Amino acid sequence: MLIQENVSLKPYNTFGVDVDARYFSTTSSQEDLLQVLKWANETQQKILLLNGGSNMLLVNDWDGLALKIDLKGIEIVSSTEEHVIVSVQSSEDWHGFVTWCLANDFGGIENLSLIPGKAGTAPIQNIGAYGVEIKDVLTQLTAIEMATGKKRIFTNADCQFGYRDSVFKNQLKNQYLIAEVHFRLTKKKHVLHLDYGAIRNQLAENNIENPTIQDVSQAIITIRQSKLPDPSKIGNSGSFFKNPVISALEFDALKIQFPDISGHAVDDNYKVAAGWFIEQAGWKGKRIGDAGVHEKQALVLVNYGQATGREIYDLSQAILDDVWAKFGIQLEREVNIIGSLD
Ligand code: EPU
Repeated sequence: MLIQENVSLKPYNTFGVDVDARYFSTTSSQEDLLQVLKWANETQQKILLLNGGSNMLLVNDWDGLALKIDLKGIEIVSSTEEHVIVSVQSSEDWHGFVTWCLANDFGGIENLSLIPGKAGTAPIQNIGAYGVEIKDVLTQLTAIEMATGKKRIFTNADCQFGYRDSVFKNQLKNQYLIAEVHFRLTKKKHVLHLDYGAIRNQLAENNIENPTIQDVSQAIITIRQSKLPDPSKIGNSGSFFKNPVISALEFDALKIQFPDISGHAVDDNYKVAAGWFIEQAGWKGKRIGDAGVHEKQALVLVNYGQATGREIYDLSQAILDDVWAKFGIQLEREVNIIGSLD
């Protein structure tokens, strides 16, 4: 167990925000992890878990322990003729895991190609893209209670998944560290999800009529690369806001005023594209200092280099206020804000 003092967290968050942690530790085994948790509990440190650091905005220094976890490994737990259960450790790169599944011809997560972050943090916000969410294939996960070091298995139902949501963002927020996740994937008769967004167009452009899961992944990679910034080149955290869900009544009223509004029915409501409102309000491509709104996807805020977490937060607040004033739509942040805003 090695605990360092006053360490910059810039390399550990995809926004590339430069704040310091009072204490910092990296851990690559469960035994070491338990020791560090014990130390943190005994010395009453508050703990900031860092895995991919891809869904957080650090707004000030961390006056406690920043714990970078580095638990690696992928293995097959069981297999039948048609399905396989695969176990992946928390710190495996999400896209690396998708790539591993595709190389083995295991289907179910190809639509989630190229999403930044790690396998163990993906369930917290139930990552989703192109009509598939992680909850569709996750069977269970193992988590460690940070206050006690005790392991607990969560079934899919225990996770209480919703759109970009789970129990780990609500009742159990900051209480558990997800160590390992199990997925049930197809070995044959793969079920393709091609109806969302531009997938069919992209496949047609590639002259593909009967796509494999590998083709679908490739099409999605092309689409994502065309509009989402690569966090290793420009700091960002993917979609900064959630797509709001509004009533059919509200949607109809907006549609009269703004006929080209973008949205689709979900049960009795409509999920509308936050990016559309932000773009219509004139924010797409805007830059204030080093904080900006991505020029190709208005849902994504970016750090051009030296922006502070607070500057990115203030930009997000200005967008929230403006979209509310112009459309009466209350946007919600998807990214976790870490630290105090006083
Ligand atoms: N739109 C605009 N302007 C923009 C962006 C979007 O008008 O700048 C409108 C367009 O009408 C477009 C529609 O929004 O047709 C949908 O855009 P897109 O397909 O890019 O998807 P999104 O709703 O903006 C969501 C997810 C993304 C995910 C894509 C594809 C959320 C918050 N975001 O974005 O997830 O990749 O769908 O499934 O649900 C992420 O969470 O980090 C993320 C990138």
